[in-house]
Amino acid sequence: MRHATTTIKHCLQHCSNPDTQNLLLVATEAALKAGTLLHELFEQPHQIHHKSTIDLVTDADLASEELILNILQQNLPGIKILSEESFASYDTIPAEPVWIIDPLDGTTNFAHNFPWFAVSIALYAGGRSQVGIIYNPIQKELFCATHAGGAWLNDKPIKVSEISSLQNALVATGFPYNVRERSDFILAMLKTVLTHSQGVRRPGAAALDLAYLACARLDAFWEVDLKPWDTAAGYLLVEEAGGTLSNFNGLPFSPFIPELLASNSLLHRDLTVLLHRFSTVAP
Ligand code: IPD
Ligand code: CA
Ligand code: CA
Repeated sequence: MRHATTTIKHCLQHCSNPDTQNLLLVATEAALKAGTLLHELFEQPHQIHHKSTIDLVTDADLASEELILNILQQNLPGIKILSEESFASYDTIPAEPVWIIDPLDGTTNFAHNFPWFAVSIALYAGGRSQVGIIYNPIQKELFCATHAGGAWLNDKPIKVSEISSLQNALVATGFPYNVRERSDFILAMLKTVLTHSQGVRRPGAAALDLAYLACARLDAFWEVDLKPWDTAAGYLLVEEAGGTLSNFNGLPFSPFIPELLASNSLLHRDLTVLLHRFSTVAP
């Protein structure tokens, strides 16, 4: 665990609860090792299976997941798992602590040798994420956050941007795997934000979209049909960096609600005015 301890020294120091520190360390170790594995497998031939027409899973997703689960379970046995490829079922918001894991966020990018993907690990307990780690192994950027302990990029504190006008804002989004069935709806949202902002990006890894919002490289992000493993770590980063998350009506966000608007806080009201008509979550 020595590598993780030195990599997140300040993040650890700002976390006052020893149990959370331990969770943070183990999650960081798992994210760093899984990221290194993904980096090694990147641009190598890989097997691709289709979960649906455009939703892929590669052998790298599975190898990363196996490595993460081994590290978490060896070091902290007994904590429940919600992980995209093997333990993905959930009916309600978990009452007990649970690891929420995306072993490879950005699978479509990875499968096309497009170097934009990450590992995302969160510990969710007491109705919120307590620990969030996102690691981009290509850029060697490790984002970490603990509840009330701040948000960090490569162990330096991060804050959301101070852009207060949508006209000057760079906004990211993503397209869900059922986009073909919902293209009018998705394109109407895109048109609305595109015509009111400075620009819209669709990089292809929701965890990194949130991490980039937390460190002021983006000013806002929205997407529908995200899953808990896409957002559980990133939403804590955004919160701890001073951002705001909600559904399109402005009601509080949860990773178990598939509608997310996240911003640097200053833009939030203007974005809810634009997006509330697209909300499918009962107010
Ligand atoms: C996907 C990515 C993408 C987002 C999709 C996600 P995956 O996750 O985060 O940016 O638009 O909605 O499902 O499948 O690459 O882990
Ligand atoms: Ca994902
Ligand atoms: Ca994934």
